[in-house]
Amino acid sequence: MCGIVGYIGYEDVKEILLGGLERLEYRGYDSSGIGILNDQGQVSVFKDLGRVSQLRTIVDYEEKASIGIGHTRWSTHGEPSKNNAHPHQSKNGRFTIVHNGVIENEDILRENYFASFKFISETDSEIIVELINYFYELYNDVELAIRHLMNHLNGSYALGIIDSQQPDKLYVVKNKSPLLIGLGEGFNMIGSDAMAMITKTNKFYELNDQEYAILTRDSISIFEITGAKVTRDYFITNLDKDQVNKGTYPHYMLKEIDEQAVVIRRIIDKYSDKRHERFIMDQNIIDAIKDSDRIYIIAAGTSYNAGLVGKQLFEKIANKPVDVCVASEFVYNQPVLSQKPLFIFISQSGETADSRAVLVNVNKLGYPSLAVTNVENSTLYREATYNLLLHAGPEIAVASTKAYTAQIAVLAICAYLTVDVKEFDLIHELSLAANVIESICDQKEILKELASCFLRDTRNCFYIGRHVDYAVAMEASLKLKEISYIQTEGFAAGELKHGTIALIEKDTPVIAIISQEEINLNTRSNVKEVKTRGANTLVISLKSISSESDGFVIDDVHKLLTPLVTVVPTQILAYYAALERGLDIDKPRNLAKSVTVE
Ligand code: AGP
Repeated sequence: MCGIVGYIGYEDVKEILLGGLERLEYRGYDSSGIGILNDQGQVSVFKDLGRVSQLRTIVDYEEKASIGIGHTRWSTHGEPSKNNAHPHQSKNGRFTIVHNGVIENEDILRENYFASFKFISETDSEIIVELINYFYELYNDVELAIRHLMNHLNGSYALGIIDSQQPDKLYVVKNKSPLLIGLGEGFNMIGSDAMAMITKTNKFYELNDQEYAILTRDSISIFEITGAKVTRDYFITNLDKDQVNKGTYPHYMLKEIDEQAVVIRRIIDKYSDKRHERFIMDQNIIDAIKDSDRIYIIAAGTSYNAGLVGKQLFEKIANKPVDVCVASEFVYNQPVLSQKPLFIFISQSGETADSRAVLVNVNKLGYPSLAVTNVENSTLYREATYNLLLHAGPEIAVASTKAYTAQIAVLAICAYLTVDVKEFDLIHELSLAANVIESICDQKEILKELASCFLRDTRNCFYIGRHVDYAVAMEASLKLKEISYIQTEGFAAGELKHGTIALIEKDTPVIAIISQEEINLNTRSNVKEVKTRGANTLVISLKSISSESDGFVIDDVHKLLTPLVTVVPTQILAYYAALERGLDIDKPRNLAKSVTVE
């Protein structure tokens, strides 16, 4: 979703902003722009529809300037257009802002302050910049204007603000939307995440909701909305800037699919003792799981699908009841809770607004929570009672792959550690699964051909499975639809004949996942049912229960860990289906990596 970058220092700001925006591209956007302030107080704004590469072609700026803000926009208010792209300026040109978030009371603000004002764009952001100007004209003090602004805005906002009359200051404001301050020597920065600033610094300050900060080249001052100064330590991220490029891979998604074996091994390493003989985890987390009478997993998209597998793991390994809830539903439709609930938030980014909205309520209610996330110091990581990292390394492709398998592995370890008598050796089983993932990734050519045969020209496709294979079918179909735009759903195989089978026509691809012995024959009957009606069927199965006609057979892994391996061919199929169609695999249309608005 929208990305922000800002810089104040001595270097050429144009290149720093454009480079920062390129590193934010993975978040998803439809337009981009930068605003640069020179020492004479002149602001130059460049913005356009489309990619940052397009923006580069129109940034015709040769002056020396070292303060500026940049933005990638994912439209919420107003269509994607040059006019609606950020930065936005107050009509008198004094203030320039970039904004990430949604202003919920924009109609009231328009009515109360700008009834006859002619706005240039259709955005809620333009109201913000005019309001700053309005309060500045009232109080003749920028800081005071910002505090008044914050008191008047409802909703989510991360803001970078430059004042043409103060070329030595960069203002930043935060509420609900993510924003970090990067600490440098002789410069300071702002960014929606560490990625935007990682080539310049690895030291960051977090800003809490309802705080603002003033950056100069040599100082960072953070304030509460009241104006009270906040003292805070910076943190150092271990994000490696070399991990943020795709090397020789044509796409991040393919690189991230291939990394999954390494990620599982890294997880074993991070969560076990030196000799990799037993898992170790913060005892408070294990106690919290043990003490709870029911776990509520809250997540969205792929993380939700990983939660469905997590439910199986907790219930089968630890006999712990689990509800898996779509975050955006839970927040407005909370079920009756058990006596001692534990909330587990699963999120690659740690920034998903829907999940965060639930966490805010959970914290208000005083229930314990655990964030399982890939991004250290992300919002969910910071705000949950406990946190666990996925150690998957930066996931750049919008389509989540390695985070999904990492989420399953970490949830398996959690469940495993809560039982005293271990019925199997999870370290050994996860290592085996990592080897199997590797061998699947070595068979890309076969999967490429299968994608061509089953998915090249199709309009739709169904994934089916029973038991835990149904959970994987849901993820497989999400992956396929988001990058290939093929209309696809994951179905419980047994449900087909209760309605969905009506959609099967000649050559409709139906891909079945079969990994559990007890459902093997049943799912195979469902495959026959659709085949009889003309479907083009493909079975992905585990070796010990495979049949000769199966299209892709995977070496056996522990029966509770099959999702770690069965999902991999489906990720590769999705990749090649999108490649055949010539689509933008890492940045599919309309999608954002980090969904920071509800
Ligand atoms: C996954 O491929 C999607 N891009 C999306 O469903 C994603 O999983 C969802 O938005 C949740 O994100 P999170 O894991 O960062 O919370």
